[in-house]
Amino acid sequence: MNQTANETILVLDFGGKQKELVARAVRSLNVYSELRPGTLSAEEIRRINPIGIILTGGTGSACQPNSPKCDPAIFTMGIPVLGICYGMQMMVHMLGGAITQNDTAEYGRVAVAPLGSQSALFSATRPFMALMNHKDSVTHLPTGFVSTAASSSGIAVCENSDAKLYGVQFHPQASHTDGGMDILRSFLYGICGATGQYQLDNYIDTQISQIREAVGDKKILLALSGGVDSSVCAALLTRAVPGQLTCIFVDHGFMRLDEGDHIEAAFAGQDLNFIRINAQERFLSKISGISDPEAKRKLIGNEFIYVFEEEAKKLGHIPFFAQGTIYADIVESGGEYGAVIKSHHNVGGLPEKLGFTKIIEPLAGLFKDEVRILGRKLGLPPHLTERQPFPGPGLAIRVIGAVTHDKLEILRHADAIATEEIGRLNPTPSQYFAVMTDTRSVGIKGDDRTYDHVIAIRAVTTDDFMTCEYTPIPHDILRRIAARITDALPNVSRVVYDITSKPPATIEWE
Ligand code: XMP
Repeated sequence: MNQTANETILVLDFGGKQKELVARAVRSLNVYSELRPGTLSAEEIRRINPIGIILTGGTGSACQPNSPKCDPAIFTMGIPVLGICYGMQMMVHMLGGAITQNDTAEYGRVAVAPLGSQSALFSATRPFMALMNHKDSVTHLPTGFVSTAASSSGIAVCENSDAKLYGVQFHPQASHTDGGMDILRSFLYGICGATGQYQLDNYIDTQISQIREAVGDKKILLALSGGVDSSVCAALLTRAVPGQLTCIFVDHGFMRLDEGDHIEAAFAGQDLNFIRINAQERFLSKISGISDPEAKRKLIGNEFIYVFEEEAKKLGHIPFFAQGTIYADIVESGGEYGAVIKSHHNVGGLPEKLGFTKIIEPLAGLFKDEVRILGRKLGLPPHLTERQPFPGPGLAIRVIGAVTHDKLEILRHADAIATEEIGRLNPTPSQYFAVMTDTRSVGIKGDDRTYDHVIAIRAVTTDDFMTCEYTPIPHDILRRIAARITDALPNVSRVVYDITSKPPATIEWE
């Protein structure tokens, strides 16, 4: 699935949160990147034969004996290396330079001043702002290196052009670094000699021919959830093998307002067999009276498998099973991409249960935003390609406590109002939705006292969904959301806004 086998940049991961952003930034500059563990052996690296290696940031102190280190042979293989933050410190330390442990961190946008000597990485002659996030500083360079830029806390850029080794203390992939992408471009094109062959259009073409070759004239089955990955997977398979794909969409009744119809409409008229299973009552009765979110998740997950199995069996033998596994699923589960079915994305062991041995994962080389771009190129509507993360058990875990038909209906409408209003913001928060709390509260409507539901609104800003900040929504929008919800929904007495970040809270309330 590597588009340009002889033009790979290897991104070695030392635990920094921005590892995926680094790999994705390389791809956005039209060079294929692969993200691998920092401890990858030189032998394995030789096998991959990259044109360059990037060492990512990490969390520890590079001078500690037990901190993660790369194979030292990397520095003498003749392959250009760029160390970022921890990656630069580790390289300097391993090659005999010195690192000082500071009491205070250099954090946020920091001025970096060029020191006058010629740099292969940047052309700035005046100070520029760059995103820093480190405590240790490089204070003495190994033989052969020169420092070409510094911040107030130490060396910010170091270069050894003879050995093709480079380091930046800041994060060039971050939008907060002025000219950061130009630095990466200089590394890829000026130093590693990339020619920039990696394009998503090529990805579509390669996948289409690979799918055709693998599937031939046989049939293929996909569990379509309506999420970005499975929807794009369906669109790609339909393009590759028209008429041979069957999608089973199990509507468990916990979708948002009209969502099931939107999903069905997106695939209507396409050359595939789309089967929608309306199993709302079956799922609702399964979790009737259950308050514990984990128990709800488990019951819904199991029921999904039963329903899917029943339907798949009705179709007779279909040799291929497709999954919308993406690159992040594989990286997170620590596996090798393209190898075997990943439990992460292998919904309840479905392929094994149904006796499938042939699995097609056509998105396994892509990051999430590449999947969205691919979806747009394949003509999917924005409500599918730009869809926010949504839990598999859907609104069943956004209704806190026991789920009822009435609570679901109220939440669906409250959510539609909240998302319509918040969706007007530019930029929109990363994720936003309504929650049906398990609290009732006193209110007044007309002349009557009421004792009714409390709806909470959540809107967060995040890069990776592992942490987030609550989004400060303007008060006039919040006021309008509260007024519209309480006007439209007689059983809601109060609307509250969640101002907690993650940690300590999570994004979902569950
Ligand atoms: P938490 O609540 O743990 O959520 O902060 C982190 C992100 O994961 C999403 N989420 C899910 N996504 N299936 C998914 O595909 C799930 O079951 C699921 N549960 C939570 C959540 O919406 C947030 O973006």
